[in-house]
Order: sequence, then C-alpha cells, then structure tokens
Amino acid sequence: MIISVTSLKGGVGKSTIAQNLGVCFAHAGYKTCIVDTDTNQSTLRWSGYRDESQPPVAVFGIADGVELAKNVKHLNQDYEIVLIDGTPSLSAVTSKIILLADLLIIPIQPSGLDVWATEKFLERYQDAVEQKEQPIPARFLVNQNQATNLSREVRDILEDTDIPVLPHSLKNRVAYRESVIKGMGAFESKDEKAREEIAAVFKDIVTAIKKLNK
Ligand SMILES: Nc1ncnc2c1ncn2[C@@H]1O[C@H](COP(=O)(O)OP(=O)(O)OP(=O)(O)O)[C@@H](O)[C@H]1O
Ligand SMILES: [Mg+2]
Repeated sequence: MIISVTSLKGGVGKSTIAQNLGVCFAHAGYKTCIVDTDTNQSTLRWSGYRDESQPPVAVFGIADGVELAKNVKHLNQDYEIVLIDGTPSLSAVTSKIILLADLLIIPIQPSGLDVWATEKFLERYQDAVEQKEQPIPARFLVNQNQATNLSREVRDILEDTDIPVLPHSLKNRVAYRESVIKGMGAFESKDEKAREEIAAVFKDIVTAIKKLNK
C-alpha cells in the first residue's frame, strides 16, 4: 500500500503528517517505511533521532525522480505501508508521487490562500488520473486547524473539487513541533489531546483504505 502525502505548497505539514502516520501504522503492527523525496531530508533526519525502543519506521531518502518509481515499487514488496513524504517544489517528481499513490493525502491549511494554491495541484492531479487511466483515490487532510468548523467559503471550494475532506483534522499543537526533534510522533507524546487527535485521523485513513479494497 503506497500512501503519498503531497501538495504543491511548502510548509503545509507533509513531513509532519507522513511521520505521524508512519508512527501510527508502526504502532498498529504494520511494517512501515517512509520515502523522503525532499532534498532537505527532514524526515530522514527525524528518523535519526528515533529511539530504538519505539516501533520501527524505516526512512529512505530518494529525491531523484528517475529512481523514485522503481525504488518505491521494490519497497512496496518489502513493506506493508510505504508513505511518500512529498517535495515542496512544483517539479515532475510531484506528478510521479501522485501516480504512484494507492491513496493520496493532501494536507491543506484552512485559509483561502491555501485553498487557491491547491488549484494548481489539482491540475497535476487530473493530468495524473488521465495518464494512469484509472482513479487515484485522494483525501484532503486539514492541518493546523484553529476552528472547530471550516469556514463556509473554504468548505465550498473544497467540495467543488470532488475530493473528500477527512472527517477529523489536526490542530496547531506544540506536540507536533516538539515530537519532530525527538524522532517521535504525537501518538507517542505526553499530550493526550494530540494523541487522541492523530489516532482519530489515523482511523479515518484506515477507513479510507478499507473503502479502496471493496
Ligand atoms: N499541526 C501542527 N501543529 C503545529 N505545528 C505544525 C503542525 N503541522 C506542521 N507544523 C509545523 O509547521 C512546519 C512545517 O511543517 P512540515 O515541515 O511538516 O511541512 P512540509 O509541508 O513538509 O514542508 P516542506 O514543504 O518544506 O517540506 C514545521 O515547523 C512543523 O513542525
Ligand atoms: Mg517536508
């Protein structure tokens, strides 16, 4: 199962989400790895801080678009879950990351500016669907949500895209920022609310995966 976490906008939480989902899948007993496609290699660094007593999440840095598809397909045979942490650049690699996905997770911050930036991404997504000649299941994941509900305007724009929004979202929490430098996920933090929140998003994603297999 290949789960790509990608968007065309930088800093929306791709790496944070890939790491946190990786930790959740590992705790659920899945053999899990993350492919870090960013030349900054933030997830590769994150894994360097991970304590060996925690469930393992292997991380491979593959920024080269040519090597990506071949390596990801190999990893998909060795690992039950392969998460791809997307690159922030509007490069050809992003199209490959979309094409490889069994499920695409698109982090989005709930502001008009972010939602507009998603339009360019959706063009890429549509191109990839046409190239693949089959649907690429995708979900928006609202990150750094400040309010309980998305504003009407943001929700309207997202609904027009035909890509569902996951029922649960992630709030702006210190636990996400702090767990990065400890090689952890919020699920392993002391913050009970953050643990519950990421567990709820993880459950949404497991539900989305079950729908794929029907
Ligand atoms: N829910 C959250 N709460 C608090 N901080 C967050 C949250 N999500 C992400 N961050 C912080 O926001 C910053 C950007 O997040 P992250 O690096 O995951 O984004 P990215 O999309 O991978 O960025 P890039 O495009 O540069 O790869 C980081 O400092 C991260 O710790
Ligand atoms: Mg990143």
